[in-house]
Amino acid sequence: MLLTGLIGYPLIHTLSPRIHNFSFKKLKIEGIYFPLCIPPEDLEAVFHTLMKLGFKGFNITNPYKMKIIEYLNAFTPIAEKIGAVNTVVIKNKKRIGDNTDVYGFACSLKEHKIDLKNKKVLIIGAGGAARACLYVTGKNRPKMVYITNRTESKIESILSIYPAKKIPFSQISQYVRIADIVINATSIDFQNMVIPFLNPGCVYYDINYCFELPYRKKIKIIDGISMLIYQAAHSFKLWTGYRPVNLMKRALKEVE
Ligand code: ATR
Repeated sequence: MLLTGLIGYPLIHTLSPRIHNFSFKKLKIEGIYFPLCIPPEDLEAVFHTLMKLGFKGFNITNPYKMKIIEYLNAFTPIAEKIGAVNTVVIKNKKRIGDNTDVYGFACSLKEHKIDLKNKKVLIIGAGGAARACLYVTGKNRPKMVYITNRTESKIESILSIYPAKKIPFSQISQYVRIADIVINATSIDFQNMVIPFLNPGCVYYDINYCFELPYRKKIKIIDGISMLIYQAAHSFKLWTGYRPVNLMKRALKEVE
């Protein structure tokens, strides 16, 4: 049995077990993906238990994408560059950290036909997910990238990924007014601080998929579903060799 799962805390709205387990079933792979809601004080013990149980790997979500690094002993170049891990692969007792959020975010931008070239981008957040968004944004030749975070001191360490301009958290709406695209890469809902201030033709991209986002005729509003699918499919590939994007999309349709 191929054992995988998702480690996070809390894990209230996750769709990951649904899409991974659906894919195992349809591909006739004997595998299982567990939601593992682990409080910080138990993280290390659980990690070692999963190793002993023979897990093939797992996904890591909020708030552990950076914390998990201390339990790993090898990294892919992209995980090293980003400084955050959302996928662990266990191979010959080696604990390898990878980052499929980068692939997920890049594919999602493409799917939604969002071209960041020469655009002014505002990223809210400085956690693991924000790091992946900043990396992909930087690769797309933007005109300007602004970044802000509730804890402003955390921004410094993220700027080695891409030299974005740090802006005060209290001035979000001011910068929303001049941005072409705003990316919410935090775990909380920022729509009220963004959507009313966006200009027509601009984009609000929220990497979450648990908030109810409104429809606006003149603004493109995108949730994190397609990023979820692409990052999940790529993690699945690292564990099984298959990248079941369409199956995972189907799994969500069956939920609706
Ligand atoms: P992930 O790895 O999934 O990105 P994370 O590293 O815990 O998760 O980062 C969560 C992000 O959401 C951070 O930018 C965090 O801001 P802080 O660095 O100030 O903690 C942001 N965040 C979480 N709760 C928030 C809140 N109530 N208000 C504003 N930002 C919040």
